[in-house]
Amino acid sequence: MTDVATAFNIFDPVFKANPYPAYCRLRAELPVIIDQHAPICWLFRHADCEEALRDPRLGSPLGSPEVLARKLGEGPAACYIGTSMLARNPPQHTRQRRAVSKAFTAKAVEAMREQVMAKVNGLLDEVTAGGRKEFDLANEVAYRIPISVVCGMLGVPTEHHDRFRSLIEENAAVVEPMPTPEQVVMADKASGELMDIVAGLAAERRVEPRDDLLSVLVAQQGEEGGLTDQELVADVSLLIAAGFCSTMQLIGNTIYTLLRHPDQLDLVRADPAAAAGAVEETLRYEPPVMSWPRSVLEPVSFGGHDVPVGWMVIAVIGSANRDETVFDRPDEFDITRPSPRHLTFGGAVHYCLGAPLARIEAELAVRTIVTRFPDLRLAADDIEWLDNFNVRGLKELPVAV
Ligand code: HEM
Repeated sequence: MTDVATAFNIFDPVFKANPYPAYCRLRAELPVIIDQHAPICWLFRHADCEEALRDPRLGSPLGSPEVLARKLGEGPAACYIGTSMLARNPPQHTRQRRAVSKAFTAKAVEAMREQVMAKVNGLLDEVTAGGRKEFDLANEVAYRIPISVVCGMLGVPTEHHDRFRSLIEENAAVVEPMPTPEQVVMADKASGELMDIVAGLAAERRVEPRDDLLSVLVAQQGEEGGLTDQELVADVSLLIAAGFCSTMQLIGNTIYTLLRHPDQLDLVRADPAAAAGAVEETLRYEPPVMSWPRSVLEPVSFGGHDVPVGWMVIAVIGSANRDETVFDRPDEFDITRPSPRHLTFGGAVHYCLGAPLARIEAELAVRTIVTRFPDLRLAADDIEWLDNFNVRGLKELPVAV
């Protein structure tokens, strides 16, 4: 191994805290890493990552059933994620995605603006009740916004929100490129419980439908293209997991990065509409998802390396988003950048279903927080990133207002 290869160590806390200098070297000196043992082909340049995310010869982010079994075994975690749309290829994927997609179109979520705004204001009222001046913005605000929005859409009662958060965090192994055996044991336990709760809620809707997405999905089951019981449980669990986890990190990462760049924060203070640009630039600069995989369905080649069927190819989004051949001053946080071509929502048929919703939630959260708290500042010196390679987010974000 050369020095530059050892610089890429997804288990090293120093690397995880600030991976960007290593990515910069990798793009220049070793843009493709072939790990025969895993087996994984890691990509660091924007062009390669974009190609991998879009090439139809590369399939589901989760791999074939064999790859999934190698990573997760055959327990509840493999069953949950392996039945979800994320694990499918067309045409099965097309049918599963279509079943839920109407609720997530740009038009459908645009109509939710007022509702989301009311949730944001309600949460900020709660957290500052009684004149409270300091709080943990990541866990008390950024987490509660997306979980209450997605659970509200599905009709999941509030009493389940906190339990879902723990279960989904314990489930991290399902999207980790190389989960440890301990992570898999934890994910099996969490997936089992998660699927039981969702199956219970679906059974309730079968008896007594309500005005929520879960009832719609249950009603569609008898129609052409409807989901099977297991698909319904898996896709609803995926929506909850995908719906809150990355959006929570996006809100926290945007506020934190603005606080670290006061000149950019001033731009949002002067014109709250600039919050949308701040969110988009954070998606590029501190993406909540560091890397995203694809499985090789037909042989491909990257940087002169042939990658055989059955391998995983991983696009390191965090590196692609700082590629100097695509972005001017890539290490600068500039919220006025015109539509940065980041890869944070993936590409092609699996492109993030919730991207319009995530953007609206984060924009309204950032805009409201900045406007309501003109004295917003960090309330601690040491802010730590999560000890997780793939999820880029903060452990806590203590702020004073
Ligand atoms: C900042 C927030 C978010 C980020 C960074 C993010 C990122 C991603 C990524 C990278 C993918 C895989 C794309 C691919 O394979 O090409 C994905 C897929 C997905 N996301 Fe998101 N996501 C976010 C928010 C959401 C929200 C709010 C929801 C829904 C409530 C959601 C639902 C989904 C679903 C269902 C998929 C699977 C799509 C498929 O397989 O067809 N995501 N997301």
